[in-house]
Amino acid sequence: MRTHYCGELRSSQIGETVTLCGWVDRRRDHGGVIFIDLRDRMGIVQIVSDPQRTPDSYNDANSLRNEYVIKVKGTIYQRPEESLNTKLPTGEIEIYAQTIEVLNSVDKQLPFSVSSADTENNVREDLRLKYRYLDLRRERMNKNLQLRHQVVKAMRRFLEDQENFIEVETPILTRSTPEGARDYLVPSRVNPGEWYALPQSPQLFKQLLMVSGFDRYYQIARCFRDEDLRADRQPEFTQLDMEMSFMTVDQIIDLNEALISHIFKTVKNIDLPLPFPRITYQESMAKYGTDRPDTRFELELVDVSDIMKDSGFKVFSGAVKSGGQVKVLPIPNGNEFISNVQIKPGGDLFKEVTDVGGKGVAYIRVREDNQIDTIGAIKDNLTEEQKLELLTRTNAKAGDLLLFGAGDTATVNKSLDRLRQVIGERLGLIDENKINLVWITDFPMFEWNEDEKRLEALHHPFTAPKPEDINDLKTARALAYDLVFNGLEIGGGSLRIYQKDIQEKVFETIGLSQEEAYNKFGFLLDAFEYGTPPHGGIAYGLDRLVMLLAKEDSIRDVIAFPKTQQASCLLTEAPANVDAKQLKELQVASTYKPKIKE
Ligand code: AMO
Repeated sequence: MRTHYCGELRSSQIGETVTLCGWVDRRRDHGGVIFIDLRDRMGIVQIVSDPQRTPDSYNDANSLRNEYVIKVKGTIYQRPEESLNTKLPTGEIEIYAQTIEVLNSVDKQLPFSVSSADTENNVREDLRLKYRYLDLRRERMNKNLQLRHQVVKAMRRFLEDQENFIEVETPILTRSTPEGARDYLVPSRVNPGEWYALPQSPQLFKQLLMVSGFDRYYQIARCFRDEDLRADRQPEFTQLDMEMSFMTVDQIIDLNEALISHIFKTVKNIDLPLPFPRITYQESMAKYGTDRPDTRFELELVDVSDIMKDSGFKVFSGAVKSGGQVKVLPIPNGNEFISNVQIKPGGDLFKEVTDVGGKGVAYIRVREDNQIDTIGAIKDNLTEEQKLELLTRTNAKAGDLLLFGAGDTATVNKSLDRLRQVIGERLGLIDENKINLVWITDFPMFEWNEDEKRLEALHHPFTAPKPEDINDLKTARALAYDLVFNGLEIGGGSLRIYQKDIQEKVFETIGLSQEEAYNKFGFLLDAFEYGTPPHGGIAYGLDRLVMLLAKEDSIRDVIAFPKTQQASCLLTEAPANVDAKQLKELQVASTYKPKIKE
């Protein structure tokens, strides 16, 4: 039907006659001359029709409305000097339309404007999701999906053509995989009473592929996790999933740095400095209070537990004596920017801290000559020596504000991490153009689950311990690594356990009896007895990576058909009721009792 894409035409083609198909982005009538912006997935070109030069197309041009689908045959001309459009790649030319054929009209009122001329981004998200096919016509979403495609293409080219990886598909109907979220379950009709789980990741299958000798596997893999949703989480999302045999942690990290820098170079023409910095989990928690630090700005936490242990200020000394910590977030010149009202109960910064479980924020304002101001009792309960040590340790100068977290270590870290991020943003300390990629290494193997009163695997139970820590598994560090991009975890992986006895010990440590372990993962443990190579891997959140590259704030904006925060699809209205007949066939009954509306 067509000879060219609209967005591809250039002045080198002046004089050619072309046939184009696309959507009417906008129609303007300039005193009898009709201008049409014609749009297809490659971009926009200007079509012109007037009664003198193109009488055969004029009546049709006049009848067009936004979003009609049309076919235009016309000749390419240079635009007059005064109407050149430098913002448009096709802005030097226009097409005089010999004929215009309406292929399909629009009979309804559009729920929102689709036109590229409307650059406002304030269309309600529920409307965008309900009419997603229209939303995807818009320039922003078109660009995002094209970028996503380019990222995947770059991944495939690098892994397949340069590094000998092969893509293998793994099952979607499977057994529960241990990534720590709730499973999505699918009832089996032919095995009544039994259920498949959708994969939370291809973890177990990719390890089995290593046992099979595939050596270098990757997959653009759909994963399913029934967890609380946020801007960076969807119930189904996509991973770039990889597994490799016979490689050390350093070799895996090197290969992955080459992969990530290939992606940045290919899709953004950005040269990333290599190697990426590496920070141990311990150092990251100490300095930033989180294992996902945004290292684009410098504010760092300082541990002052030893100074405060013997202070007369009970909140501080008590915290340390009961096994917790006192840490400080020093804000250079903070006295100027942050008021007491913000920190005291009812203030915005106070609320940030209580939102993550903290009780509040103590503070000290540093004045000239090492004088300090505080509310409450801190000042009167510090000796001159403790005060001076505190100021030296935190490198504080006149004008600085010291924000304190005291209590159990986890809460102190969470509170100060939150304050660091909020204050970093509010004081404009974050350079939005910076790209900081950092590896976090040496995670602990396990963390304490207070609800279940047991240790659980921090990553997943197939992660290998560091050989030097193997004698005390409970406190061992793992051969695991996460990749963090401007404060967001975009990938994580590890070397795996490949010896049966160590795997069994790990199961034991997380409170899984041998019987339970065999019941759940017997097929993997069996496979380990038939010749398993040392192996390891990683998975990236593709949606998150593309979101950051597209400078969007939500992964919904880089997924064609995403779900809402309530895990529903506003377009298809999934999830939905099913026929009683279907449920009967599956031998499934619902215990759900709808609330009766009053
Ligand atoms: P992990 O659970 O860390 O590791 O997942 C890898 C990456 O997937 C992304 N991600 C998500 N993205 C969107 N929505 C979600 N609900 C979601 N959950 C996770 C994150 C994360 O870094 N099998 C292991 C990998 C391995 O060990 O090789 C795994 O799945 O960016």
